[in-house]
Amino acid sequence: MNELQVELKSQLEKFCLAKIEPFMEHDDETEEFRMSIFTDLGELGFCGMTIPEAYGGAGLTYQDCAVALEEIAKYSVPYAVTVSVSTMVQSIINDFGTEKQKSTFLPPLTAGQEIGAFCLSESGAGSDASSLKTTAKKADGGYILNGTKLWITSGGIAKTYIVMARTGGEGSKGVSAFIVRDGTPGLSFGKKEKKMGWRTSPTREVIFENCFVPEENRLLLEGEGFKVAMAALDKGRITIGSIGVGLAQRALDESVKYSLTRQQFNQPIFDFQGLQFMMADMACETEASRLLVQEAARLYDEGRPNQKIASFAKLKSTDTAMKVTTDAVQILGGVGYTREYPVERFMRDAKVLQIVEGTNQVQRVVIARQLKKEYTT
Ligand code: CAA
Repeated sequence: MNELQVELKSQLEKFCLAKIEPFMEHDDETEEFRMSIFTDLGELGFCGMTIPEAYGGAGLTYQDCAVALEEIAKYSVPYAVTVSVSTMVQSIINDFGTEKQKSTFLPPLTAGQEIGAFCLSESGAGSDASSLKTTAKKADGGYILNGTKLWITSGGIAKTYIVMARTGGEGSKGVSAFIVRDGTPGLSFGKKEKKMGWRTSPTREVIFENCFVPEENRLLLEGEGFKVAMAALDKGRITIGSIGVGLAQRALDESVKYSLTRQQFNQPIFDFQGLQFMMADMACETEASRLLVQEAARLYDEGRPNQKIASFAKLKSTDTAMKVTTDAVQILGGVGYTREYPVERFMRDAKVLQIVEGTNQVQRVVIARQLKKEYTT
């Protein structure tokens, strides 16, 4: 870590211990999202980390952003995810938006006054994203959107939605991307999902019923929306990867601390080699995941192709988060399974990391396609 990253990490550690950690157990129970926490993170510069300063962002690299998100995730995966998805939305506007779109939509997002949401998935289009059915029919001065998006992180609390909808025929080439603001007539929110984990982060249906979106809110040209979504996911996979690393690190920290104090058979349970080997593996897998995430981020920061490594990073770090949090529950034993200790929450928060932003099976598809290209060209 460089000096700046050490400083970011230390600033976030203080913030999270004071402002996030005290509420996490309660809010996980009540499913409460506190906008004030997000806004405070924005005031410190953590809601638009990778966006240029000209639009209110912090102008940091993805390597810096990964370090910061890892730290937030040690205390709260839901807030880290809210920041991660909102950052992905901002990166879409920053990379593909017009000057007017950037100067209009980015500043409230980078400041943390508003949250961004990414609307790709539908009931019939999860992993097979390009089969989405939401339509955007050309109308005078814009488009009329109809359809329902599913599993939308920050649905209902976000103000800016990036929506992928069909303007043309079947397949990826018929998809376009739009910026839709909360409050637009015809935009509403459906069922709030009752989830195993990420309970502080709302996940809702986002519904479009004859929702008019002006042409100036379309990103790029008609038919270029699928590429917008895929390119954004390459970056989202770095940030989701860093969240997996943070969660695994915290579960390891709790395991080591607990096992050093818990006595059985007249010795700390840490002294049993069976547990030492488990914790050595947990530490090794967590560090390996961190290095992969940093490598994916470095390639991106240097403008080099990173699609395969981003998928490596997402796959490895989220599988690691699942394994390490499960092992943490095992090490804490009976109390690990109760809500007296946070590790059961960590285990619940880990599971969906293997599913979002491309299931870990989809990551393998992406990796295998890259391998085929490398070996046949
Ligand atoms: N960057 C730019 N363009 C890309 C790209 C990338 N990374 N990946 C693909 N494309 C382009 C391709 O080049 C192709 O364009 P051409 O036809 O001009 O060559 C076009 O997009 C279609 O690509 P594919 O043929 O590979 O598309 P596919 O239908 O076979 O799908 C897939 C491939 C990888 C399985 C893709 O559908 C996918 O990633 N699915 C998972 C979807 C996903 O991650 N959803 C997550 C939802 S968001 C979320 O979870 C966030 C949250 O709230 C937490």
